[in-house]
Amino acid sequence: MEKTSVTIEGGHELNGVIDVFGAKNAVLPILSSTIMLDGETTLLNIPPIGDINSMVRMLNSLNIRTEYRAGGSIHILNQKKIRHIAPYELVTAMRASFFVAGPLLAKTGFAKVPLPGGCSIGLRPVDIHIQGLKKLGVDINFEHGFVEFSALNLKGDAIDLPFPSVGATENIMMAACLAKGETVINNAAREPEVVDLANFLIKAGAVIEGHGTSSIFVQGVQSLMGVRDYFVIPDRIEIGTLLIAGGITGGCVEIKHVHSSYLSSITDVLDEAGLIISYDNNNVRCSANGSIHPVDITTEPHPGFPTDMQAQMMALLSIACGKSVIKETIFENRFMHVNELVRMGASIQVDGQIAIVSGGKLSGADVKITDLRAGAALVLAGLIAEGKTVVHGLHHLNRGYFNLMGKLKSLGARLDL
Ligand code: UD1
Repeated sequence: MEKTSVTIEGGHELNGVIDVFGAKNAVLPILSSTIMLDGETTLLNIPPIGDINSMVRMLNSLNIRTEYRAGGSIHILNQKKIRHIAPYELVTAMRASFFVAGPLLAKTGFAKVPLPGGCSIGLRPVDIHIQGLKKLGVDINFEHGFVEFSALNLKGDAIDLPFPSVGATENIMMAACLAKGETVINNAAREPEVVDLANFLIKAGAVIEGHGTSSIFVQGVQSLMGVRDYFVIPDRIEIGTLLIAGGITGGCVEIKHVHSSYLSSITDVLDEAGLIISYDNNNVRCSANGSIHPVDITTEPHPGFPTDMQAQMMALLSIACGKSVIKETIFENRFMHVNELVRMGASIQVDGQIAIVSGGKLSGADVKITDLRAGAALVLAGLIAEGKTVVHGLHHLNRGYFNLMGKLKSLGARLDL
């Protein structure tokens, strides 16, 4: 049976070299885009984690065959008639399931998708997705908790997003690939995972330009073909988490095969906090250099500091020699790890979207994970806390990290695996 908690004995340095799998947030939209592809696709560098398993189940429920192969590849076979109704239990369990709306619509002219759920980090509406798809000529109805999308022919248009939503950019970009004419998405998200999705779609025959900038241009095509052996970019959030594990414990952790250009929004802040970051070919290394310095951080859309690293950074700053100010601008309820860090002795005051962290010492305690990245923060805190920390609710972590505890143990963490 899967373990629900882990006991960590704090105060041991982590040292060593480690590899990571592909980015969860790239794999999820890429998998959903395979709804639009004819034939066979193989994706490489895929972590066997909960969220990806949920998306695979979603594809299966739509009549697409998948096979996870040892070593981290997924083979996708899209040959049968696609069903267009996304099951309630899958969409409400994971918000990213809503990414199937655009591809389903583009492929079948119809999609019926429940309003999503996901991490309990705020309201997370889907209005930007819906307004954008509407501009492509889609009729939209809300009924019994489902959103029904229909469009006989999608038509390209200029779409100005009110906010560079990652998921809305991806959903609209995917649907636009099979729309008639040109779509321009202005104020688009620039996250590396959006770029990876665009690169994958281009391999499938899509015509896309400007990905990675604020304006994405998509010229619609008639059909898209399966892609062989697409290697998904490494997970920058997992990399950032492991780098902090090295730095927070006073050790040195090196991650292999990274894309350095995608990491600077994270490593620049680690550098400011006094950790030593160095690159060697495609490897990145993080080690400690005495005490941790306080840093003021604001989470922002890429290339700003990612909200998905805010909790882990807070764990690091809770042992800094001074006061840090963390401002969360992406989600309205993403400080749920604060109470648990406070149980471990951290001194943190929250006022709305701002947390003031006064560095000090942490001591082991029983703590509970409330969402994926909060879980990573509590594990990091446990690595440095005095005595034993019992982290409960490991299923949240398993949604997004593959074998995090095993990796930390291989680097020298003392935990009961
Ligand atoms: C993606 C990532 C998630 C990351 C987030 C921000 C995936 C699978 N997940 O989530 O890990 O934390 O980007 O970098 O890629 N919003 C609206 N209306 C919308 C869409 C979004 O108000 O239609 C709001 C959300 O409530 C949230 C903010 O915009 O407050 C950011 O959301 P968005 O960029 O869409 O994030 P996701 O795609 O859900």
